[in-house]
Amino acid sequence: MSLLDTPLTRQLGIEVPLICGAMYPCSNAELVAAVSSAGGIGVVQPLSMIYVYGQDLRQGLRLIRRTTDKPIGMNVLIERSSKFYLERMRRYVDVAIEEGVRFFVTSLGNPRWVVDRVASAGGGGIVYHDVTERKWAEKGLAGGVHGLIAVNDRAGGHAGPRSAQALYDELADLGVPVVCAGGIGDETGFLAALRMGYAGAQLGTRFIATNECGAHEDYKQAIVRADEADIVLTERVTGVPLSVIRTPYVERIGTKAGPIARWMLRGRRTKHWMRTIYALGSPRSRAARERRPQRITGRPVRVLRGFTRSSRLERSCADSPGPSSCALRRGGSTS
Ligand SMILES: Cc1cc2nc3c(=O)[nH]c(=O)nc-3n(C[C@H](O)[C@H](O)[C@H](O)COP(=O)(O)O)c2cc1C
Repeated sequence: MSLLDTPLTRQLGIEVPLICGAMYPCSNAELVAAVSSAGGIGVVQPLSMIYVYGQDLRQGLRLIRRTTDKPIGMNVLIERSSKFYLERMRRYVDVAIEEGVRFFVTSLGNPRWVVDRVASAGGGGIVYHDVTERKWAEKGLAGGVHGLIAVNDRAGGHAGPRSAQALYDELADLGVPVVCAGGIGDETGFLAALRMGYAGAQLGTRFIATNECGAHEDYKQAIVRADEADIVLTERVTGVPLSVIRTPYVERIGTKAGPIARWMLRGRRTKHWMRTIYALGSPRSRAARERRPQRITGRPVRVLRGFTRSSRLERSCADSPGPSSCALRRGGSTS
């Protein structure tokens, strides 16, 4: 049996067990469409689509559909502390279901309402839950999810405390497919994760450094130039460890939350105020506010089959802003 034939590919009806993870503020419709049409599955980040790229969610999903009829997913950040946020997320899920999305990746909270909503829609919807440790996996499974995205200590965005191997060992007996997220930037890493026993891999950073990603060119270049030693974990963006590229700004503000911030981050409600304070102060947030909405252009969506066939991987990397992105071993962001 082929290494690429896994419980993930069978559940989702895709060719390659590779997910392009949701990324705020990097996920754009073209990137999602490109990955799905190449045989993997792209995951829409609704907040990125709406607030960064200025698209109505339904219109954005339809734009993707004009490029590919292959399955796509959507990310659901479950944030129960704010009623407004929760209601908005429920609407996004409803729109996605109406537009035919049947794969959801939940993070941060109890995924039960998403699982129930997806089940009631029919059509064999699948929900995977982002986890960094077994206790979160057990909570996700109690909420009815069908699979787990195991976010390890090399992940871009919010990183977990465990290595890919340690996390696999911790989750392997839970009886659902487990996908490896973190530190994969090339075919070798992808295959290593599959050989470890993972049902697939979710990549983020590697997909920022592509032509299809709508992120700023400077950001792509920063990713391409960075190597593992340039990445630090900071608590100063969201209160939980987040991979960022070490820049003069990061050096200046430090990576640890101060005592007041720590105290606020411990409270159920105050932690959200603190995260808002961090978010409003970050250069990324300022940049996002100043950025004008982008329209999807008629840019041809190039194929990213590189991850499925090694001969093409070279080309995919060569087409990216710089070849070293293929050697990126650890995710990063420029928050
Ligand atoms: C810039 C950035 C933003 C991200 N935003 C999100 C997000 O909004 N929701 C989410 O579930 N995961 C998010 N992630 C995590 C990715 O979906 C994926 O799991 C992770 O990037 C995998 O690690 P890698 O970057 O080393 O490949 C983000 C990652 C990056 C790099």
